[in-house]
Amino acid sequence: MHRLPPGPPNGVFGRRHFRRITRNLLEFSRDLQREYGDCVTYRIGPIRFYQFCHPDQIAELLIRNAFRLHKLQMVKWYFKRWMGDGLLLNEGEDWQHQRRKVRWAMQQMDAAKNAAIAVAQAKELLSRSSGQVVNLEALLDRITFYSNVRIMLGTDGEAVMAPLYDAANILHDTGVRELESASMIPDWMPIESKRRLRRAMHFYRQTLLDFSAQRRARTIADEDRDLLAWFIVSRDVQGKSQGMSDVQACDEALTSLMGGKGTVSASIMWAAYLLALHPNDQERAAEEVCQAVGERDVMLADLERLPFTQQVILEAMRMYPAGYMLAREVAEPFEVNGYRLPRRAQVHVPVHLVHRDPRWYDRPDEFLPERFRPENKLKQRPYTFIPFGVGRRNCVGKRLGFQQCLLILATLLAGYRVRLAPGQGEPALATDIVLHTRDGLHMMLEPRTSNIATPIHS
Ligand code: HEM
Repeated sequence: MHRLPPGPPNGVFGRRHFRRITRNLLEFSRDLQREYGDCVTYRIGPIRFYQFCHPDQIAELLIRNAFRLHKLQMVKWYFKRWMGDGLLLNEGEDWQHQRRKVRWAMQQMDAAKNAAIAVAQAKELLSRSSGQVVNLEALLDRITFYSNVRIMLGTDGEAVMAPLYDAANILHDTGVRELESASMIPDWMPIESKRRLRRAMHFYRQTLLDFSAQRRARTIADEDRDLLAWFIVSRDVQGKSQGMSDVQACDEALTSLMGGKGTVSASIMWAAYLLALHPNDQERAAEEVCQAVGERDVMLADLERLPFTQQVILEAMRMYPAGYMLAREVAEPFEVNGYRLPRRAQVHVPVHLVHRDPRWYDRPDEFLPERFRPENKLKQRPYTFIPFGVGRRNCVGKRLGFQQCLLILATLLAGYRVRLAPGQGEPALATDIVLHTRDGLHMMLEPRTSNIATPIHS
């Protein structure tokens, strides 16, 4: 019998843990750490769970033993049927080859062009809500999804983007609902929810396969390639040409669109929320943006002149990490902290706890963007700030995602002062794939006409 870390009594089949997790996962993991420390175990049915919160344990798990851990079987079951073998859920050698190719393809893109896409998309959709109360979470989700479709498929037609967005929402919401309720209803069942799912799956995949076939059928100059076209001719890091089949390109395109969906928008939304609670910081960031860009649009080259706005995004990612929990399944047993992790055990790293741990952050519940000033960042202990994950499975879209956060937040601040809508209190949190709000975040977008030396939009 192996030594186990401390943990709560499991009761009958761990039903009490299951109930608490479905009620409030964040609170459950927080209570476990408070009562039992950095390394905790519990059981639900046949599955043993381990929670690790210490940066040394995180390095041990996700750096040194990363190859012994896989993504959760259960998540694969619900999402692979339409994401296929895209990076997020793939494993082994195939994952390694695909990861190299996706990284190469992303490096080929024209970052300035992608930046202009995000800014134009943000300006257009924000202006439709100017002077109004808006659910900022939903608006940002649409802005970022549309931007990523334009980067991926080179199209800016609402006739393509809007139905893809609707299909993506159906796939996302159904996947989450089925995963949370552990539904085992097969997809072929003749019921309305399954019909909608099948239609969305077919439409989404077929659209991407058609776009892929169109790109393969003609010669495209490098400067005209969108990300999908780069996937098709992708190489690995040694420059070996391998390319991707239409199905591989479709899987990776779908995965990237879903990987960027919700993560980027939630990060910007939390930054806007925190700035609405801290008006002085909001004015400071807005002034920084206005001084850097004057009356034109924000551009990629401006980002280095927005240090405070960058700190705001980083602090928002610390306090409300979109990827709030990293979860793995043990594929090959190994030891951490003297505890042997058996095959099929589930391992959780609660990023939201690491980011609010008073051992690594002074006054962790306060919004203090200055803690990310370069001189302070140097003092940060490794693996205590992990919004993009850790190790070989870290976020492949992190550069693009971070740039989009900054560009869109800067565009928002240049044009509008954001305030919480009347009646909007502290938002209740939702924890499905990303950390977002349960009921949306309602904010007033007040066009900037005063207080700023050079107003950008009137
Ligand atoms: C602020 C924005 C973003 C955040 C906070 C974020 C966060 C994360 C995190 C935490 C992981 C690791 C998950 C794990 O270890 O289980 C991840 C992986 C991934 N992300 Fe992101 N992400 C962001 C933007 C994006 C964008 C824009 C894309 C695509 C263009 C993307 C595509 C992916 C993919 C494909 C993976 C899986 C990588 C692999 O397993 O090899 N992400 N992301």
